[in-house]
Amino acid sequence: MKGKWIILLLPLLPGCVDATAKETMSKAQATFKPIPAQAPAIKGNEATKAKVDLGRMLFFDPRLSTSQLISCNTCHNVGLGGADLQETSVGHGWQKGPRNAPTVFNAVYNVAQFWDGRAKDLQTQAKGPVQASVEMNSNPELVVRTLKNIPGYPALFEAAFPGYRDPVTFDNMAKAIEVFEATLVTPDAPFDHFLNGEPSALNAREQTGLGVFMEKGCAACHGGINIGGAAYYPFGVREIPTAEIRPESDTGRFKVTNTASDKYVFRAPSLRNVALTQPYFHSGKVWSLKDAVVVMGSAQLGMKLNETEVNDTVAFLKSLTGKQPKIDYPLLPPSSDQTPHPQL
Ligand code: HEM
Ligand code: HEM
Repeated sequence: MKGKWIILLLPLLPGCVDATAKETMSKAQATFKPIPAQAPAIKGNEATKAKVDLGRMLFFDPRLSTSQLISCNTCHNVGLGGADLQETSVGHGWQKGPRNAPTVFNAVYNVAQFWDGRAKDLQTQAKGPVQASVEMNSNPELVVRTLKNIPGYPALFEAAFPGYRDPVTFDNMAKAIEVFEATLVTPDAPFDHFLNGEPSALNAREQTGLGVFMEKGCAACHGGINIGGAAYYPFGVREIPTAEIRPESDTGRFKVTNTASDKYVFRAPSLRNVALTQPYFHSGKVWSLKDAVVVMGSAQLGMKLNETEVNDTVAFLKSLTGKQPKIDYPLLPPSSDQTPHPQL
């Protein structure tokens, strides 16, 4: 009887707790990577201060949209985890787009952009929403004409792109936005501290959740720096989710590659800051993180996680909330008599 108590109490002894934390830590260190303190450099697009500042202005400038009401920040609100908290985004003319807006935070660490990976990097990506009829509904010609006719912008483009004969271009707009977005990283999550060798950065419940996340197989698709964002998988590997959660009309990567095996394949999203960016999945149909974990258990792993496993996993996922970038709202150069007028 006495022996049984000793065995039961063993994990509560400080030395054993440390040993368990260390084991969990070394497994985690082999699977995940902390967010580096420095924003990453972009090849071929140097992040000068002038360029990052211009990118920040453009990110917040609603005059990139035809209505002059919608900026990147409308759907990727930097005060709301870089997302918009809508099931699917609402854009030009109050139109509802087909997909949930992923966060722009840490997007620079994703293998490619969009749920289906159709843009290879942030620069290519930035040209999409400006032109999408359900988002900003503009076009390169109108954007360039607008920027050239806002008196403050040409000098800012010149400073950001020295040596260009005609620096105000659609490509340079995208380049500036790209370097600004690369600064939108969220280091210093409790989980980053844990990965950096501080066992006390995660409490017991969060560590248990991390254990569940690794042992059950979540980490196979959600690993690396971004705890996801690195590869594509069918949504419904083991069990097809309901048609509400995985609408039949959105075949995901199939539309990009036209390959039958890519039907309903999506990029496993980054789970960093996931506690801030409800609702979940590309359809945005699941509002609670707990429910999202249950769906993942059945859809991707073919298992029904019990209540404790789900709660522990959610506790772990909350430890992925990092230090949010503090962005000063930029003062934008005023319009002039020559600036094109908004079209609603
Ligand atoms: C996706 C940036 C404007 C809604 C993305 C992504 C980035 C981004 C980086 C990919 C994130 C990822 O895949 O993890 C921008 C920039 C914008 C802008 C720089 C301004 C030029 C908007 C606007 C809306 C919007 C105005 C809403 C009306 C979305 C949606 C997606 C997305 C729904 C996912 C689309 C899909 O996967 O097919 N955006 N965005 N974005 N953004 Fe934006
Ligand atoms: C989406 C967690 C296992 C691939 C998600 C989301 C969460 C999550 C919270 C929604 C994120 C968001 O919308 O921002 C988990 C957990 C898992 C797990 C806790 C283990 C129980 C897996 C596995 C795979 C996978 C094993 C790959 C086989 C995906 C994909 C999506 C996703 C492709 C996007 C689905 C879509 O909306 O189209 N995961 N995941 N996940 N996960 Fe997992």
